[in-house]
Amino acid sequence: LEQNERESLFIALNFAKDFFVKNLQTEEGRSIGLSYFKERGFNPQIIEKFDLGYALDGWNHFLKAANAAGFEEEILLKAGLILQKEGDPNRLYDRFRGRVTFAIHNISGKPIGFGARILTKEKNQPKYINSPETPIYHKSDVLYGMFQAKKAIRDLDNCFLVEGYTDVISMHLSGIENVVSSSGTSLTEGQIKLIKRFTNQVTVLYDGDAAGIKASIRGIDLLLEGGLNVKAVVFPDGDDPDSYSRKVGSQAFQDYLKENSRDFIGFKIGLYQEEFARDPIRKAEVIREIVQSIGKIPDPIIRSVYAKEASGLLQIEEEIIHSELNKSLIKSQ
Ligand code: UTP
Ligand code: MN
Ligand code: MN
Ligand code: MN
Ligand code: MN
Repeated sequence: LEQNERESLFIALNFAKDFFVKNLQTEEGRSIGLSYFKERGFNPQIIEKFDLGYALDGWNHFLKAANAAGFEEEILLKAGLILQKEGDPNRLYDRFRGRVTFAIHNISGKPIGFGARILTKEKNQPKYINSPETPIYHKSDVLYGMFQAKKAIRDLDNCFLVEGYTDVISMHLSGIENVVSSSGTSLTEGQIKLIKRFTNQVTVLYDGDAAGIKASIRGIDLLLEGGLNVKAVVFPDGDDPDSYSRKVGSQAFQDYLKENSRDFIGFKIGLYQEEFARDPIRKAEVIREIVQSIGKIPDPIIRSVYAKEASGLLQIEEEIIHSELNKSLIKSQ
């Protein structure tokens, strides 16, 4: 029975995907959705590759189409595609309205949810509305773009990790296909396990703002704990991989990634370097943070390689790093 329900949910999600994709070719879809994608540099090939679409403006365009196709409302509710009006549960309406849609696929390419972006600058509306958790969409086990990226991740033995849907898509347009997005939420163990099915090397490319840097620092520690080899690139303030790649072009973007990839120690030192000269106490704090990060690495040999590197870069005796490492290792036991 549970298998039947899962199958019905997959069918409903696929119907919604087809509906949103087709909407993009309606008059409303062309003038609002398609022109928005064009403005962002998304061509028909990439729109098709990522099943991008458009949710018509209005309360129940999707619900009516799904009803006509014979879908039960209970399944549409469970699929997260429609909602019940508060205080009037018999009144149902579409979750996604007047927004461009980004289908979220599972690893075998089946749609399991959507992100939907607003097209106006309304301040009291969220920029993205996303599908909720459902029996077929466990957010903590999904990375956006993995279906389109998995082969390239395995072939290139590296996975770029970005924050947003549009970062993934723009990087494909720049010729970089080994990229997935954590979709603005903090990385989970399940997502790290998913990456490890294809590679042991991650390069974090979060947004060049305070939130992105904070998220990078947290993500890096989790990735290290997962036994992954981690690099990171910092973007100029205010840029993300999407905006930066469009600003400088594909070749310069690829060069930027190559030239600015740092291992996690170089990344942290880079962030705080200017403060070091002025403030030795701050330097001590950062050293402690770096040692704590090294302490999260499960492999003792890799740990010791990074301890040596940290000692050289920070000009701190290796002995001190090792004794700090031992302290934090004892604590974590
Ligand atoms: P960002 O705010 O960096 O958006 O959030 P973005 O990806 O750069 O989007 P554009 O370029 O403005 O279109 C990063 C990610 O966080 C999630 C989305 O997955 C988004 O891609 N997010 C953000 C939400 O789920 N809801 C929001 O309201 C905002
Ligand atoms: Mn389940
Ligand atoms: Mn951001
Ligand atoms: Mn962004
Ligand atoms: Mn962006």
